[in-house]
Amino acid sequence: MVIPVDVDRLMSISHRRMVEDDLPAVLAIEQAAYPFPWSEGIFRDCVRVGYLCRVLVAPEGIVGYGLVSMGAGEMHVLNLCVHPTHRGQGLARRLLIWLLDEAHQTGSGYAFLEVRPSNPAAIQLYDSLGFAPVGVRPGYYQAVDGREDALVYRLDLDIWAIVRAKAPFERSVRNRQ
Ligand SMILES: CC(C)(COP(=O)(O)OP(=O)(O)OC[C@H]1O[C@@H](n2cnc3c(N)ncnc32)[C@H](O)[C@@H]1OP(=O)(O)O)[C@@H](O)C(=O)NCCC(=O)NCCS
Repeated sequence: MVIPVDVDRLMSISHRRMVEDDLPAVLAIEQAAYPFPWSEGIFRDCVRVGYLCRVLVAPEGIVGYGLVSMGAGEMHVLNLCVHPTHRGQGLARRLLIWLLDEAHQTGSGYAFLEVRPSNPAAIQLYDSLGFAPVGVRPGYYQAVDGREDALVYRLDLDIWAIVRAKAPFERSVRNRQ
């Protein structure tokens, strides 16, 4: 059975454009989330070149972020992250839906992303939104014991928009408590 999770909590979360003043909070989450975190310089470059950079804002502050590059009718999800203590509340799903909607409305026809095969939470999230695997980039990621492949996922955003109109995100949020 699909049950909306804490809807009041979800409704208390908003998103806005990431600005350089956000970088200390963003970096703290990045470093808590990844064994090989992005540097501050990478985030700063993404903000400065005008990528779609968004932060998730809860009453207690920034709890996640997403960064997307766009061009040639495609969007590329570069980073999507939720603070470890705020996971499992539907926040990544919500942020990714916002990003997909915004990219589609501004002309992107396809969304692409890379994900580690060892990241089942992210893979499950992408699967659930209709992304499908379309390729592998061998040795794409740094790993503790060498390199790890990247799975490349793609979503047709025109199909996404049709499905989205019929299935508001709240219905697809499951209660895992
Ligand atoms: C992947 C990540 C962004 C998910 O964030 P989240 O806010 O916990 O995700 P949500 O609560 O929105 O969950 C959405 C869906 O993701 C999947 N998911 C999330 N956590 C999961 C877990 N621990 N196990 C399996 N699936 C999981 C499920 O499909 C879930 O939908 P459901 O609740 O209907 O089952 C988060 O774990 C994270 O920041 N990880 C570190 C950074 C990272 O790996 N980013 C992705 C890079 S490609």
